[in-house]
Amino acid sequence: MSNRIILGAQWGDEGKGKIIDVLAKDADYVVRYQGGNNAGHTVVIKNKQFILHLIPSGILHAGKICIIGNGVVVDPQALLEEIAYLKKAGIKLKNNLLISEQAHLILPYHRNFDKLKESKRGGSKIGTTGRGIGPCYTDKASRIGIRMADLLDLEVFKKKLKINLEEKNLILRKVYGVKGFSYKKILDEYLVYRRKIKGYICNCSKILNKAISNKKNILFEGAQGTLLDIDYGTYPYVTSSSTTAGGACIGSGVGPTKIDEVIGVVKAYTTRVGEGPFPTEFGPKLMKEIRTKGKEFGATTGRARRCGWFDALVVGHSARINGLTSMAVTKLDVLDDQPIVKIAVGYKYRGKVYHDFPANIEILLKSKPVYEEMPGWLRDTTGVSQYKDLPLKARRYLKRLSSLLGVKIAMVSTGPKRNQIIYC
Ligand code: GDP
Ligand code: IMO
Ligand code: MG
Repeated sequence: MSNRIILGAQWGDEGKGKIIDVLAKDADYVVRYQGGNNAGHTVVIKNKQFILHLIPSGILHAGKICIIGNGVVVDPQALLEEIAYLKKAGIKLKNNLLISEQAHLILPYHRNFDKLKESKRGGSKIGTTGRGIGPCYTDKASRIGIRMADLLDLEVFKKKLKINLEEKNLILRKVYGVKGFSYKKILDEYLVYRRKIKGYICNCSKILNKAISNKKNILFEGAQGTLLDIDYGTYPYVTSSSTTAGGACIGSGVGPTKIDEVIGVVKAYTTRVGEGPFPTEFGPKLMKEIRTKGKEFGATTGRARRCGWFDALVVGHSARINGLTSMAVTKLDVLDDQPIVKIAVGYKYRGKVYHDFPANIEILLKSKPVYEEMPGWLRDTTGVSQYKDLPLKARRYLKRLSSLLGVKIAMVSTGPKRNQIIYC
């Protein structure tokens, strides 16, 4: 019996969806606690691939209660599209999906501001997913956000929408020189959403804490990754939520004393999507090779992911901030053809070698990684399901990662499918 946080320990897309799916068989509840439909979590069952953006990946297991927590920002249009997609695939969605009454709503102007701000930033853009995530969290922090509870109370919803829209339209016209939004059109659209989603809205913190009292097992499904965290990531090239273990408590209404384990999902190499520093990024040849073999294209936007060597400073930073109790290493198979595998153990900047992940973006942008090199295993590890069946050199690589980070490896993933997993 345990309550476990599963989170990304790099820049997102570590394979959280796959690990959640594997662990969900022993869980009763699966909770998303931050982010929104900027996430894209892939689960492959038999030969069918599912991509979840907002709904917890546990939904693909019958009988699990899936909760969208208060820390999530919910685009109701995207949510309804995802519900329809799952229903079409034969997934049952009755009494197993709940949404916190404190979760904030994404409105059409959030998506608009996201894109406008990015185009205005020009060369210094963040490379967001354009889903309205940043502007929605901005409103939340500014205390003008609209929550699920407001959607249930029509008078409150209308009032808040009117006040917000007056301000947003003024900015759209005066600052960006574009047309504003029609109050009536948004209201009509959201009234339809209200009718369709009100049955899912509830007090999730109460439900989760009651479940914990009843010795139920909960999985907290992180989105994005630690290096995209608003505080601990490569600011300003980050998302706008708390992607770290602390975020699981804030975003679900479950206290830290109730958490038993924090599992960091870690790719055997590194990827990132969008702009921002990436010290171990590959040159063009390896970039193409690993991107092709690892199918490194975004599950949400389809953008090509940037790829690089494993960075022990990045994951060391994550291990500390999240208090990782173990790691799940994914995509080991993608490194199978490499004669040499490298691990960054330091950054060299102006003659000085850094061993801790620096907060200064300039150092990150301009430093050269200091690598440890190990011989590659040059054998196909796809689908290996016993640790002892991995090539010795692959085991040595995993052992080195674990000893550098001081965190044990609990699982190794050797392919996208459910059974392509090793329990160590
Ligand atoms: P998430 O956002 O962390 O859930 O990760 P994504 O779903 O965005 O990206 C991970 C990708 O890697 C998906 O296409 C998965 O199907 C795939 N994947 C997960 N684990 C493995 C693995 O061990 N090997 C390989 N080759 N692919 C994997
Ligand atoms: P999952 O959960 C990888 C990145 C974007 C951009 C930055 C800010 O699938 O791992 P945002 O739209 O959030 O304001 O964009 O964060 N980003 C992700 N990168 N995986 C994700 O989610 C991401 N969600 C956002 O590319 O650089
Ligand atoms: Mg993803």
